[in-house]
Amino acid sequence: SAAEKDGYASFMLKEIAEQPRAVADTLLGRVAEDGTLRLDEARVRPEVLREARKVVVVACGTAFHAGLIAKYAIEHWARVPCEVELASEFRYRDPILDHRTLVVAISQSGETMDTLMALRHAREQGAHVLAICNTNGSTIPRESDAVLYTHAGPEVAVASTKAFLTQLVACYLVALYLGQARGSTDGAEIRAAVRELARVPDALERTLATMEPVRDLARDLADKRTVLFLGRHVGYPVALEGALKLKELAYMHAEGFAAGELKHGPIALVEPGLPVVVVVPSPSGHRLLHDKIVSNIQEIRARGARTVVVAEEGDESVVPYADHLVRVPAVPPLLQPLVATVPLQVFACALATGRGNDVDQPRNLAKSVTVE
Ligand code: G6P
Repeated sequence: SAAEKDGYASFMLKEIAEQPRAVADTLLGRVAEDGTLRLDEARVRPEVLREARKVVVVACGTAFHAGLIAKYAIEHWARVPCEVELASEFRYRDPILDHRTLVVAISQSGETMDTLMALRHAREQGAHVLAICNTNGSTIPRESDAVLYTHAGPEVAVASTKAFLTQLVACYLVALYLGQARGSTDGAEIRAAVRELARVPDALERTLATMEPVRDLARDLADKRTVLFLGRHVGYPVALEGALKLKELAYMHAEGFAAGELKHGPIALVEPGLPVVVVVPSPSGHRLLHDKIVSNIQEIRARGARTVVVAEEGDESVVPYADHLVRVPAVPPLLQPLVATVPLQVFACALATGRGNDVDQPRNLAKSVTVE
């Protein structure tokens, strides 16, 4: 049953392993016979999708990182401006909202108080709220205008893993659905994107099968004090999520940065032996972006950093600068967070275990934060 570890040493390991299934389940039944995307279950009124002047995503913790990635997808496919904000900051700054604002509230538990208060505020201002949630009948979906459920199954470990990947899937679906409703993405492109999403569970299986070197590396780094994470584009929120996982599970100082900001401060932190994990964007996306991060890797390595490079299969340009190379399957550039997050989860989990921590129940943390 879901409440048992099924032979895994922890719920965290079990939930990491369940990700291919969780992603597949969240995609199930979303495409009609004619190839159009169907999110009928969410019950968002078509005019809300068509007439929205902006989208505002609110969430906390790992769900907020899913929101940061959603912005790239929503602006790309739906061509509507998208803001992403921490739920705890949102309502205290008098945000500009009206009936042509679509607010997307992302929450695994559906009970996070800050997210709930943010959506209540949004609805009071006349905005439409779509919840992305993993828990049937919880408070956040009950108080929203519409809900798209993720199908990760119960997530027991306090730090979120499989729920995050399904939140990403839901965000991609919402972005494509908006694009379909608004006519900003044509049918062929939507079908192609959905086909690519359908291949992700396989890509995740392959990723999970190659994680042994990541676990070895984590054991090797267990006595480090700090780990930095760098990324660009959708890899930037992945870097933030990698750093968050390490704080939550390993109680280590970890920070995620946009690689383009290196020169504006973070590079001063680099000293010999400092582990820096770099999420390299696909060379099939913005070539320039990819090449810039390769030169970022060279820069930090020249200053003694121990580089852990997460790069897609076949990207040979990074090989000379990687002290440790972690391969992820090639997927379309926007979808890369779905595969690139996995090694960072495995890394944090193994590092925490190496330090003797309880990965399911990290100190001071709660699975769902029901106070503000
Ligand atoms: C807590 C959990 C995190 C989670 C966050 C938001 O901090 O430990 O794993 O990302 O709450 O939770 P939610 O249920 O709203 O997604």
